[in-house]
Amino acid sequence: MTKHPKYLYPLKNCFHPKNLNMFDLAGKLFLSLLTIIFICFINPTTTLAQPAFLSYYCENSANYTVNSPYQRNLDTTLTALPTTNNGFGFYNLTTGQGYDTVHSVALCRGDVNPDACRSCVNDSIVNLGQLCPNQKEAIGYYDNCMVKYSNQVILGNTGIKFYVYLANTQNATDIDQFNSDLSPLLKKLRVRAAAGGSLQKFASGSTKGPGFSTIYGLVQCTPDLSETQCSDCLEDIIGRISLYFNGRVGGRILLPMCTFRYETYRFFNKSAPVIHYPRHLLR
Ligand SMILES: *[C@@H]1O[C@H](CO)[C@@H](O)[C@H](O)[C@H]1NC(C)=O
Ligand SMILES: *[C@@H]1O[C@H](CO)[C@@H](O)[C@H](O)[C@H]1NC(C)=O
Ligand SMILES: *[C@@H]1O[C@H](CO)[C@@H](O)[C@H](O)[C@H]1NC(C)=O
Ligand SMILES: *[C@@H]1O[C@H](CO)[C@@H](O)[C@H](O)[C@H]1NC(C)=O
Repeated sequence: MTKHPKYLYPLKNCFHPKNLNMFDLAGKLFLSLLTIIFICFINPTTTLAQPAFLSYYCENSANYTVNSPYQRNLDTTLTALPTTNNGFGFYNLTTGQGYDTVHSVALCRGDVNPDACRSCVNDSIVNLGQLCPNQKEAIGYYDNCMVKYSNQVILGNTGIKFYVYLANTQNATDIDQFNSDLSPLLKKLRVRAAAGGSLQKFASGSTKGPGFSTIYGLVQCTPDLSETQCSDCLEDIIGRISLYFNGRVGGRILLPMCTFRYETYRFFNKSAPVIHYPRHLLR
């Protein structure tokens, strides 16, 4: 089933107030801060346990019943999933047989350190269990990681149910120049990530934007995708920038198997190397 793309603005995030710079319309900032404080004080039990997802989804068309074999397999799978790191922030575990098979994967952003990665995967699992208590398939996205489980095969599956769009509210002043700097950067990163091999498909970099600005970009696929699948997946979502984010100084599209983000500030971890692509090398 294909859902219509929609914008999701994850404003209410008690633990990641720096996310607000994606949404910091000057006039709304004060209101947002009030909202954060409000949530933190009024609803401590749900927000203090795990930070809220940027976006999540429970597939309501397939449910399991309490104490069913599926539930037991799911519990087993999700308990063990955090121990399956391939060394580069990708996790995958499948357990059970026939209709009760549970597939699960997790992927951390390529620049996230192992401790933050594991705690993100852990938080996701706890959170999904609460948000999607009887669904066979669910997915949750944080800044640092994505976790998905399903009764359907996940590895190598490039089927798309829906896209999650997150847009920076600010617009570039020189939109044409911004686009002509952004698009070759993302193309370069796409090629590099797709060629990354079977353990990690990740690339981050920067280039000069209009005026004194710098554009930072990051793209990533799950490493189970082939080079072509990764490249096609990224090409699809990057091609949506002109439709959904035209002129915005930041944006990301989240899919279970590929994602990009770009901003005019450095949103990667400080320790992560960022390859700078001079304009003339991108042309
Ligand atoms: C599955 O469970 C959800 C939430 O409990 C419910 O809304 C949905 O209708 C159920 N789906 C089916 C197919 O029974
Ligand atoms: C995951 O979180 C739970 C509770 O939040 C905690 O008990 C458990 O030790 C954590 N596991 C890992 C691997 O960090
Ligand atoms: C950016 O541009 C969009 C579309 O033209 C417009 O709807 C939006 O209000 C603009 N945002 C700001 C902060 O000016
Ligand atoms: C998924 O896990 C299996 C079992 O550990 C492993 O053999 C396989 O390489 C993993 N797949 C990927 C894409 O990492």
